[in-house]
Amino acid sequence: MFMRRQLAMLMVTGGVLLAGCSKTEPAHSASTPAAAPAGPTFKVVGPSRQIMLAVTIPSSDKVFNAAAEPPTTDEQWVTVERAALELAESGNLLLIPGRAVDDGDWSRYSHMLIDTASQAYAAAQAKDINGVSDAGNVIYEACEGCHKKYMPQPAAPASAAAQ
Ligand code: HEC
Repeated sequence: MFMRRQLAMLMVTGGVLLAGCSKTEPAHSASTPAAAPAGPTFKVVGPSRQIMLAVTIPSSDKVFNAAAEPPTTDEQWVTVERAALELAESGNLLLIPGRAVDDGDWSRYSHMLIDTASQAYAAAQAKDINGVSDAGNVIYEACEGCHKKYMPQPAAPASAAAQ
């Protein structure tokens, strides 16, 4: 509702789409020298814009809407709770190797999303509507902050040139 939806789909920064190129071989060569530290591996399935559309936007809508239309039943609270959890985890999705754009502001705003949506999650578990609403405001700052820096900006509309 508050976002500019018709942005040209530009390459945000290099690397968003070229996911996971640096995969190491799986474990059967166990004694490979200087192997990367063992840990989970990730597979990027879609670019950040699709994470926005599939996960971040629908879950944040539910959290933002809760403030306007507070849940009244347990079931509705569970819906808000799950949406907040999903929103927080979408911050992690933005950070997985191959999708994360950089280790600076991208990481900072993603963590801000995780932390603020976690507050909404805790508030929803406590059925604290003011807490959900306050968290919503800071969640929105994470969205805005990241978009200001990383969303492709539309070219100035032709009409603006006349002024
Ligand atoms: C860490 C960065 C980051 C955060 C945090 C973030 N976004 Fe995004 N978002 C992006 C990027 C990058 C794009 C543009 C992707 C593209 O066009 O390639 C985008 C695109 C969008 C779009 C436009 C989708 C379209 O139709 O093209 C919407 C709407 C959106 N985000 C909503 C949100 C909301 C709501 C939040 C917070 C709850 C949020 N975003 C948080 C990075 C972020």
